[in-house]
Amino acid sequence: MSETYIKVDHLSKLYRLGVAEAMHDSLGAAIGAALKAPFKNFRKLQGLSDFKDKDDESVLWALRDVSFEVREGEVLGVVGKNGAGKSTLLKLLSRISLPSSGSIEISGRVVSLLEVGTGFHKELSGRENIYMNGTILGMTRKEIDRKFDEIVAFSGVERFIDTPVKRYSSGMQVRLAFSVAAHLEPEIMIIDEVLAVGDADFQKRCLGKMKDVSQQGRTVLFVSHNMQAVQSLCTRCIMMENGRLVMDGGTDEVINYYLSKQMTGGSMRVYETPTDAPGNQQIRLQRAIVYKNSSTPSDGQLLYVNDELVFEFAFWNYSPGVHANLSLVLNTVKGEVIFNVVTDDKPIGEGLHVARFQIPANLLNDNVYSIDLYFIKNLKETICLIENAVSFEVHDAPREKAWYGKWIGAIRPKLHITFEQESRL
Ligand SMILES: Nc1ncnc2c1ncn2[C@@H]1O[C@H](COP(=O)(O)OP(=O)(O)O)[C@@H](O)[C@H]1O
Ligand SMILES: [Mg+2]
Repeated sequence: MSETYIKVDHLSKLYRLGVAEAMHDSLGAAIGAALKAPFKNFRKLQGLSDFKDKDDESVLWALRDVSFEVREGEVLGVVGKNGAGKSTLLKLLSRISLPSSGSIEISGRVVSLLEVGTGFHKELSGRENIYMNGTILGMTRKEIDRKFDEIVAFSGVERFIDTPVKRYSSGMQVRLAFSVAAHLEPEIMIIDEVLAVGDADFQKRCLGKMKDVSQQGRTVLFVSHNMQAVQSLCTRCIMMENGRLVMDGGTDEVINYYLSKQMTGGSMRVYETPTDAPGNQQIRLQRAIVYKNSSTPSDGQLLYVNDELVFEFAFWNYSPGVHANLSLVLNTVKGEVIFNVVTDDKPIGEGLHVARFQIPANLLNDNVYSIDLYFIKNLKETICLIENAVSFEVHDAPREKAWYGKWIGAIRPKLHITFEQESRL
């Protein structure tokens, strides 16, 4: 079994509102702090302050009694809504701030990439910052020389390498910070939301680089709102909610739980008056409902993979005599399109109209789905788009056979399948 690299034990962090705390908010300082812990020597960081008035309203629990372990070579995703405590956790692990109680044991050299702007010494150039960070990490000038070109090339800031970092855009700062962090061969890499800045191409290269890092057996802790990135990179995830760790498990399991908790509304949305309804001056949604074909529409119905479903949309049309059709896009909650179907195109008068789409049983998988609606005029002009008109969850039906694993895939069609012996040996 591989070695435990990080051990977090009953960790809590209280902020006293209105009281600033000393922080060394830079990559250099964080690396320096981490280095004070001798390489591969466990060192315990105990809570320094003990609050007496913990239930006072002027204190806020950013983290509450969090415990978990991370092993060598694991890529741990940390998911949770804004304010859940993810960044606080990473700051404690990076020793940028101190816990209120509990302990952290870390074995190995840590490099952290936290929020934008926490990267560099702003007055120094990109080149000087690379050397400074490398030196802090205990690399010789020769070693840094050897990596230098690669770091610069990856960051894409060649032309500005002798410009003070304070003149860099936030995207450039993050690119250089990521590039330095990834090339300095840390044993543990801690990354908070870097993918939020930077373009699609850079994001892709970051993910590739992180994958390399993890395949070299290093440990990565990764916070991101991009579930596709988390899914492609992480071997395990934890989910934070209001400062607490509420789930620790396989990536798919944790992401699905997280996404299902993100969902707003159920499988039935009805708007009493047009003023509250999504739409515009031409079209407004009156209701969007997903229900079992065998029953009447109702909220909170459990939908199963083997139920025949109806997607029902009623809308007000305010333009006299338009030729229109309705185009429905079914997405997984992660944004992958499952299919796009359309109604016939026809003249519709002013008033309330309803379209129903019948979905066969045994087509969808147990998943969370969401529906976008396009109202199209004359087969070419979108007059109204309602994103996420309704979202719903399909549940797994009770199984007859012994296998209880999760079926992968966005759909789970029931096909006519044969399987037989064709001849004897
Ligand atoms: N320096 C600070 N002082 C006071 N409260 C803070 C500070 N940093 C974070 N918080 C609070 O702690 C909670 C967790 O924040 P954070 O760790 O940034 O969440 P996340 O990264 O998951 O969005 C939030 O309620 C936030 O407002
Ligand atoms: Mg954060």
